[in-house]
Amino acid sequence: MTELTETRVLLEFPVEGGNFPAAGEAASKVKKTLQKLGIDSNLTRRVSIATYEAEMNIVIHADYGKITLQVDPDGIWIRAEDRGKGIPDISQAMIEGFSTAPERVREMGFGAGMGLPNIKKCADLLEISSKLNIGTTVAMGFYYPTAKRESGQSKPN
Ligand SMILES: Nc1ncnc2c1ncn2[C@@H]1O[C@H](COP(=O)(O)OP(=O)(O)O)[C@@H](O)[C@H]1O
Ligand SMILES: [Mg+2]
Repeated sequence: MTELTETRVLLEFPVEGGNFPAAGEAASKVKKTLQKLGIDSNLTRRVSIATYEAEMNIVIHADYGKITLQVDPDGIWIRAEDRGKGIPDISQAMIEGFSTAPERVREMGFGAGMGLPNIKKCADLLEISSKLNIGTTVAMGFYYPTAKRESGQSKPN
């Protein structure tokens, strides 16, 4: 890419499947890190929401995983990688309201099927790859608000 791709921050947060009391901790650490770095608040909000949804998906749907935050001169990158059952049909999983969350998870208020659609709305770049019974990787990219991306709100779909 450019000569300015030197990574400034690279942090990893483990996420445990089924651990609802700890769910959201990785996203909240990502948010705090971005706030400390003085990242634009709207961008920080979008990264935090997307990270929270990806973290919840590991907690709800996978065995364990990790979230990596990379803050580069060209943007912010979040990678949520897990070991678990995987996603058999990614386009179906992207549909608003589609969820395979079990009843006990819905009773806790999760499993509305809006996580992946929400990630898609928040991130400028989204790449999901999954292998059945191996795991899933959700890679997200966020650009800084610049002349190229004035408001930081619209994105190509
Ligand atoms: N990390 C994951 N591992 C396995 N399946 C997943 C993962 N993330 C999402 N899914 C599948 O995609 C569906 C839609 O995800 P999402 O939009 O976040 O809704 P929800 O989490 O509320 O079910 C999930 O119900 C699940 O079937
Ligand atoms: Mg979800």
